Amino acid sequence: MTLIDGKNISKKVKEEVKNETSNLKEKGIIPTLAVVLVGEDKASQTYVRSKEKACELCGIKSLAFKLSQNTTQDELLKLIKKLNSDKEVDGILVQLPLPKHINTNDILKEIDPDKDVDGFHAINVGKLVSGLDSFVPCTPLGVMRLFKEYDIDLNGKNAVVIGRSNIVGKPMANLLLNANATVTITHSKTKNLEHFTKNADIIVAAIGKPKFLKADMVKDGAIIIDVGINRLDDGSLVGDVDFEEVKEKCSFITPVPGGVGPMTIAMLLNNTLISAKKRKSKKN
Ligand code: GUN
Repeated sequence: MTLIDGKNISKKVKEEVKNETSNLKEKGIIPTLAVVLVGEDKASQTYVRSKEKACELCGIKSLAFKLSQNTTQDELLKLIKKLNSDKEVDGILVQLPLPKHINTNDILKEIDPDKDVDGFHAINVGKLVSGLDSFVPCTPLGVMRLFKEYDIDLNGKNAVVIGRSNIVGKPMANLLLNANATVTITHSKTKNLEHFTKNADIIVAAIGKPKFLKADMVKDGAIIIDVGINRLDDGSLVGDVDFEEVKEKCSFITPVPGGVGPMTIAMLLNNTLISAKKRKSKKN
C-alpha cells in the first residue's frame, strides 16, 4: 500500500506558486485574492485564516472582508460588485456556508466568472461539464493533482464517487469523466452502495460521515481517496474512510489529516495565480 502524501505535494504546489508570483511581481502584477467571510462560524473562520496565511507565504496578497452575521444579501452583493470591478483583484472567494437568510446561488452567480477561483459559478460549472477550460473547485482539483503526482492512470477505470455536493462530489465526477474514467455517483439515497464500491478501482469518499467506508466494501487493490474531515468527540480528526481497516486492502490511500485537505488551499493559490497570469496577458 502506498500512502498518498498530500502534505508534501501541497508544499510542492505552493513552492511553484511562490516562484511564479515572484516572477509576476517583477512585471508589476501582484496576484490578489479577496476572501469574504460572513458570520461567526468557527470552522469557516479557521479555513479563512489558513487561506490568508497560505496566501502570505506564497506572495499572494489577500484582502479579507469579515462581515457580521446580520449582513444583508444586498450588502454582500454590493461588495461582490465592487470586487468584480476592482482591476487589482484576481480572485474572489466567498466562504461557504453563508448564513441562512442569504441565498447562496444568488451570491455565487454575481461573482465574475473570470475571478471565480472556487469554480462555483454556473458558467464555470457548465464549462467543466462540457470539458472546456474553466476554474475548477479546489478540492477535486487537488485530488486530480494527487493522481497525476502518483502516476495513477484513470483511463477506463471504474471510479465511484460517494457524495453529490456541488463543492466536491459533482465536480469530482466530471473531472474523472473528462479523464476517461467510467464514473458512478452514489449518495444517501443509493440502494446497495456496496454493489458499486466493491467493483470500484477508485473510490472518492466525500460524505462527511466518520469512518463510513469499511474494508468489506472495498475490493483488493482499490485506490482510496478520502475527502472527509470529521472531528470526533475526543478532538481527533478522522476521514470518511475507516483508515486502519481499509489500508490493509487497498493499493493507494490518502490519510486524514495530511491527504486531500492540504491540497485544497494549494489549488486555491494556484487558481489565483492562473487568474493573475490572465490579467498580465490582457495587460500586455
Ligand atoms: N466551504 C467548504 N469548502 C469550501 C471551499 O472550497 N470554498 C468555499 N468558498 N467555501 C467552502
